[in-house]
Amino acid sequence: MSRLPIITAPDPRLKVHSAIVPVVDDAVRRLIDDMMETMYNAPGIGLAAIQVGVPKRVIVMDLARDGEPPAPLHLVNPEIVWAADEDAVYEEGCLSLPDQYAEVSRPAEIEIAYLDYHGQALRLKAEGLKAVCIQHEMDHLEGILFVDHLSALKRNMILRRLLKQRRLNVADA
Ligand code: NI
Repeated sequence: MSRLPIITAPDPRLKVHSAIVPVVDDAVRRLIDDMMETMYNAPGIGLAAIQVGVPKRVIVMDLARDGEPPAPLHLVNPEIVWAADEDAVYEEGCLSLPDQYAEVSRPAEIEIAYLDYHGQALRLKAEGLKAVCIQHEMDHLEGILFVDHLSALKRNMILRRLLKQRRLNVADA
C-alpha cells in the first residue's frame, strides 16, 4: 500500500466527472487499499478517488470513532436508489478544502446500490453522519464540492481563505 498526494481546491481536476468502473479487479482493489491508507493517514473519514487524481467512481470511508474498531467501507459505482424527503443539516469538511467547514443541507436518509471490494452488488441504508458522508463523497464523483452547496458569497470566502493559507504555507517552506 502507498499513500497518495491529496488534491486541494482550487484545482480543475476536482471538477471532473468520474467514470464508471467496468470491473472490480486487482488494480481497483490496489487503488482502494492506497486510498484507505491515504485517508487514515490524513486523517479523514471519507475519500473519493478523484481527490487523489483518479477519475473513477470509487469511494472509501471509515466512520469509526477513536477507540472503536475500524469500520472500512468501500463503494464502487455507488448510486442513490432512494432518498428521504426530510433534509438534515451537518457541518461538513473536506480533505480537499483543508481546515474549512460549513453547514450543508442534504436528505437525512438514503439507500444506495454499489459494488464492494470483491465486486459484489450490495445495498445500504444510511442516516446521520453516514448518509452525509456518502452523499458528500458521491458529489466528488460529479465534480461537486461541499462549498458548491453554499451561497456564492460563502463559497468565495472559503476559497479566498484557502488561497491565503496556501500562500502562507509556500512562504513557510
Ligand atoms: Ni470531500
